[in-house]
Amino acid sequence: MLKGERVKLGPIKREYVDSFLRWFNDPEITQYLIAYRPMTRMAEEEWMENLKNREDSIHFSIVIPNEEGSEKLIGNCGIHKIDCKNRVGEVGIVIGEKEFQNKGFGTEAMELLLEYGFDTVNLNRIELYTYDFNISALKSYKKVGFIEEGRKRQSIWINGSYHDAILMGILAEEWRKKKMV
Ligand SMILES: CC(C)(COP(=O)(O)OP(=O)(O)OC[C@H]1O[C@@H](n2cnc3c(N)ncnc32)[C@H](O)[C@@H]1OP(=O)(O)O)[C@@H](O)C(=O)NCCC(=O)NCCS
Repeated sequence: MLKGERVKLGPIKREYVDSFLRWFNDPEITQYLIAYRPMTRMAEEEWMENLKNREDSIHFSIVIPNEEGSEKLIGNCGIHKIDCKNRVGEVGIVIGEKEFQNKGFGTEAMELLLEYGFDTVNLNRIELYTYDFNISALKSYKKVGFIEEGRKRQSIWINGSYHDAILMGILAEEWRKKKMV
């Protein structure tokens, strides 16, 4: 369990399947993700089952303590496409419980994920793609230190129009320098 001030990154549990299904069938969430087909229970359970075999990715739940002293699941995140030779990984994050978006939880979870990626997995570079209309993501990623590195112009067709996918990256040396400030 990785602990921040307000959020924790923990394991993915089977009992999360209903929340994941709700998030990944919600167009308000999926408009920001690659996924656009309806997510079935069968596919979600298969994804969960296969996590243990995935050597090139590491997934976490994002939870916060609730009043009863237990934990509330609010999202998930992970490092994918881990390339051990070049020490590069791609991150993804979703705060699926919409009332918890834009309250800083995603940014804190991403900070924990970067710390894990750089200090535990020993990556040298972490990258991601987001879309030009995803204001929350762009602001959140810039806050943790990602730099815009390029644009794939009109590579995304969503909600009836084309959008740019934005490549962002952060290097281990930049992360460590930022942490020292
Ligand atoms: C992207 C995401 C992880 C960011 O996490 P978060 O906890 O919501 O982010 P934060 O609250 O730290 O930062 C978002 C910022 O965008 C701002 N924002 C959101 N919508 C805005 C708008 N329309 N105009 C201006 N600012 C806006 C928020 O006010 C906040 O600003 P602040 O830094 O001044 O507080 C989360 O919103 C999310 O999961 N969204 C849905 C799925 C998604 O987009 N995943 C990422 C795919 S690349």
